[in-house]
Amino acid sequence: MRLSELSFRGRTAVVTGGGSGIGRAIALGLGRLGGKVCVADMGVDRAESVGAEIRALGGEAVAVQADVTRPEAVERMALAARDAFGRIDVLVNNAGGASGPAFRIGRVCKLSERDWDDTFAANVKSVFLCTRAVAPLMLEQRHGCIVNMASLTGQFPFPGMPAYSAAKAAVISLTRSLAMELAPHVRVNALAPGLIETPRTSLNRRPEQLDQLLSNVPLARMGTVDEVADMALYLASDAAAFVNGTVMDCAGGQMWMTRDGRPAFRDIAG
Ligand SMILES: NC(=O)c1ccc[n+]([C@@H]2O[C@H](COP(=O)([O-])OP(=O)(O)OC[C@H]3O[C@@H](n4cnc5c(N)ncnc54)[C@H](O)[C@@H]3O)[C@@H](O)[C@H]2O)c1
Repeated sequence: MRLSELSFRGRTAVVTGGGSGIGRAIALGLGRLGGKVCVADMGVDRAESVGAEIRALGGEAVAVQADVTRPEAVERMALAARDAFGRIDVLVNNAGGASGPAFRIGRVCKLSERDWDDTFAANVKSVFLCTRAVAPLMLEQRHGCIVNMASLTGQFPFPGMPAYSAAKAAVISLTRSLAMELAPHVRVNALAPGLIETPRTSLNRRPEQLDQLLSNVPLARMGTVDEVADMALYLASDAAAFVNGTVMDCAGGQMWMTRDGRPAFRDIAG
């Protein structure tokens, strides 16, 4: 398949954290391109609302409430997708994050064991559990691909975010490990977004932080969820049939340095 012919017609996908932000954009993109989508989210209203958006676009979708840190919920999610569509071609392990009720950013001396564990559960254990639940079917089908949502912080740790940075580094390592283990019929790749504008990131950002944050981004702006989604759609499609075990940055060239090369933004933990 050439990129100009991008289509998911006849393909089915599970998108975790599909109810908001980047996951929502990926789910909508898959639906728009003809894919049948299982939108999984811990927030059932969010999942259902994205499922309804996909159906309004003429696509097929089911919504599943699942906390992807819980093995029973993940097994139920995989079964629901299989029951609805008969197969699973694409798994997007997108659920996760660095802030919100389940996760905290914070410097290491102030970080609780609970926050450390929750951050790893949401970002790493979830990828393991979802892959373990879906990969057997992909191997049986002799076709599948997995896209894991890492972060630029997994490659260039962000000061003040040790748990999240380490968790996303683990996602990158897990991606490479799975890419070897599940080949040749299942491909596994990761995306490493930088600063992406989502309802969550704009909510968590103090206004004065934006300039400081953007001083580290050569392209001098936040990325959009659709820009990340387009990269996920590429990795999930047959246009990327020879792409395996890779980590693609979507970060405007950010390397945690100012555009003139001085280290700048040191600590967002406050
Ligand atoms: N937005 C950014 O700037 C950015 C940058 C780098 C990486 N990322 C990563 O991209 C992914 C999506 O981030 P976003 O900014 O779109 O987040 P978001 O908060 O807008 O959406 C995340 C969605 O995932 C769901 N979710 C969270 N934990 C879950 C769980 N345990 N089980 C099921 N659903 C769960 C939430 O309910 C929410 O609907 C995350 O893995 C995040 O770490 C985001």
